[in-house]
Order: sequence, then structure tokens, then C-alpha cells
Amino acid sequence: MHLSPSTLSIQDRYKLLIGAIVPRPIAFVSTISPAGKLNLAPFSFFAGVGSNPMTLLFCPANTPAGEEKDTLRNAKPLAEGGTGEFVVNIVTESIAQQMALCAEPLPYGESEFDLAHLTPAPSHIVKPPRVTQCPVAFECITKQVIRTNPGQPAGGNIVLGEVVHIHLDEGIVNDKLHTDYTKLTAIGRMGGLSYCKTNDRFELPMGRG
Ligand SMILES: Cc1cc2nc3c(=O)[nH]c(=O)nc-3n(C[C@H](O)[C@H](O)[C@H](O)COP(=O)(O)O)c2cc1C
Repeated sequence: MHLSPSTLSIQDRYKLLIGAIVPRPIAFVSTISPAGKLNLAPFSFFAGVGSNPMTLLFCPANTPAGEEKDTLRNAKPLAEGGTGEFVVNIVTESIAQQMALCAEPLPYGESEFDLAHLTPAPSHIVKPPRVTQCPVAFECITKQVIRTNPGQPAGGNIVLGEVVHIHLDEGIVNDKLHTDYTKLTAIGRMGGLSYCKTNDRFELPMGRG
């Protein structure tokens, strides 16, 4: 089968992206509004970008009305009316249901921390708190937002952030900073409403090894 995106509905393009690009890690992004209200939402269009400086990205799409999601409103740079900061928290099996609940589109300014009974903990450098229940958190300063179709439904937005502080629960990494995946229990998102666990792994040498 061959398909051209120009003949597909927005929903079908989305279905193919999330069905084929799997598994996707989940950035559980905490932000704070200019008025000081907390926000928390999951984003699986999420990736590391580079280590010098330590940089990551996530992609909050526009709403069906073409508006910015609350996370983007908050995380965009000061010059664009946001607070220019966010925290990426890593989602584990134990909070999967609470994470999914935080995809509820609450009115701007209402906190998903309260909705999902998750506990904010003060960050070290940025204003948005991290999620206490998440064993890893990256505090980020927003460097840039790239908008692929501003003001249009489902238009993409890439939020690039520089990591300025890393939180790791005790025992998640060893003294060489290698991660213990049995302790991390990270989950990933598949298509539709499916998720995967990370407890089925194998190792391979790189290149000719
Ligand atoms: C596991 C998961 C992954 C998601 N990934 C994305 C994503 O990458 N981009 C996006 O725009 N929405 C994504 N969503 C939907 C948002 O979480 C949802 O629109 C949320 O209400 C946005 O919150 P906000 O308006 O407070 O920013 C995802 C939802 C779930 C449950």
C-alpha cells in the first residue's frame, strides 16, 4: 500500500504517525503559568537532541481550534509571553493511570497535579516543580519554539529545552551513571490507547563491536 499525506485526513495522518513510530517515551511536562498556576501533561512526541549542551525536545500540537495547549503557553520563552521553563518527568508503571488522567484538557490555570493526586516537589533551578512520584526529572530552560503551522488545527510545535538540572532518585543509576531499568520501570506509548513496559530487553554491540 502507498499513501500520500495530501489525500489523508489530519486524523489518519496522526493515526499512522503514532501507530508506526513506536515505542515512544513519555515526557510528563510540568510548567507554571505567568500567574503562578501549575500545569502537568504527557507528551510522547519527545526526544533527546544532544549532549553539548544537554538538550531535549517535546512537541505540543495545536488544539483542534488551532490554539496553543496550556503547556506551550507556559513553556514558551518570556519574550513570547510564557515563563521559559519546564520540567520533563519520566513516567513509570506505577503512575501510568495518573499520567493518562493528566491528558484531560482542564481549563487554563487548573492543575492536573490536583486532578491526578500527584505531588509537586520544588525544583533546584527552574520555577516549575518536578513530580515527586517520578524517579527522574530534567529541569529545562526553553531555548526555542519552532512552529510548523501556527494557528492551525494539529499544527506541530517543537519546544527545545536546555537541561540545567537533573534529579535522580536514589539507586536509579549506579556510580558510573548507568541506569537500573528494573528500578526505573519506564513505560512507552504505542498507537491508540496502548502502552508498553521496558522489562523485555536485549543487548547488541555497536557497529563491528
Ligand atoms: C501518553 C500520552 C502522550 C501524549 N502525547 C502528546 C504529544 O506528543 N503531543 C500533544 O500535543 N499531545 C499529546 N498528548 C495529549 C496531551 O497530553 C493533552 O492534549 C493534554 O491535555 C495537554 O495538556 P495541556 O493543555 O495542559 O498542555 C498525549 C497524551 C497522552 C496520554
